[in-house]
Amino acid sequence: MVIEVYTEFLAKDAVKAAKRGDLIIVVDVLRCSSTIITALANGARMIIPAKTLREARKMHAENPDYLLGGERGGLKPRGFDLGNSPLEYTREKVFGKTIVLTTTSGTRALVYSRVAKWVLVGSLLNARAIAEKAISIADSEGINISIIQSGTNGKFSLEDFLCAGAIISMLPNNNISLSDSAQAALLAFRHAENNLYVNLMKSEHSKKLIKLGLTEDIKFSCQINLFTIVPLYRSGIITKI
Ligand code: MLT
Repeated sequence: MVIEVYTEFLAKDAVKAAKRGDLIIVVDVLRCSSTIITALANGARMIIPAKTLREARKMHAENPDYLLGGERGGLKPRGFDLGNSPLEYTREKVFGKTIVLTTTSGTRALVYSRVAKWVLVGSLLNARAIAEKAISIADSEGINISIIQSGTNGKFSLEDFLCAGAIISMLPNNNISLSDSAQAALLAFRHAENNLYVNLMKSEHSKKLIKLGLTEDIKFSCQINLFTIVPLYRSGIITKI
């Protein structure tokens, strides 16, 4: 079968991808998906995405041994154990832990996706692993693939578009057909890949993170294929496949 590959520009578009029955890859390079992947790579047991601060705090109050992580306006909310910097999610802090995570756009895209059977979490850090796993699942299940760019505050974001292109560039290219938006993401990534960090720094969200003193997060999140793990979001929790 030919696998159709789509990419959507906003978190809320996950709803239409789920309705189509697609395998969904949620991408939020800066920084939610990079944080999730790093936490799992450093031995976190599971991540529970929460849409609101209130929901996250409630879950934490009911389970005080969980770590509470996330951001609003890029910064760690009051009373949280961790912010949304992938660099904070070290082995020392997260090994064996369950983490409740709430962020502005990334966890929202995940929650919008939750009715889909297959929801994977991708970033530049695990682009190849995610591409290969997505194709193998889509092939065996006879379904198509949608890469959902979380965007920033409900708007298109350059870094997620480039990451969609990176993942598409690593799909084993037997029997896939790219939508126009998927082709555009691939062309943009091809143009940007040799200077990815410099190109990512041009995004609006990067500029905001730089102002907050978080340039190191951008540098870290730009590393292609640092990890080989594939996070799966199912029944409300994210674990490694
Ligand atoms: C988000 O989910 O909106 C982002 O991860 C924001 C951030 O950079 O922390």
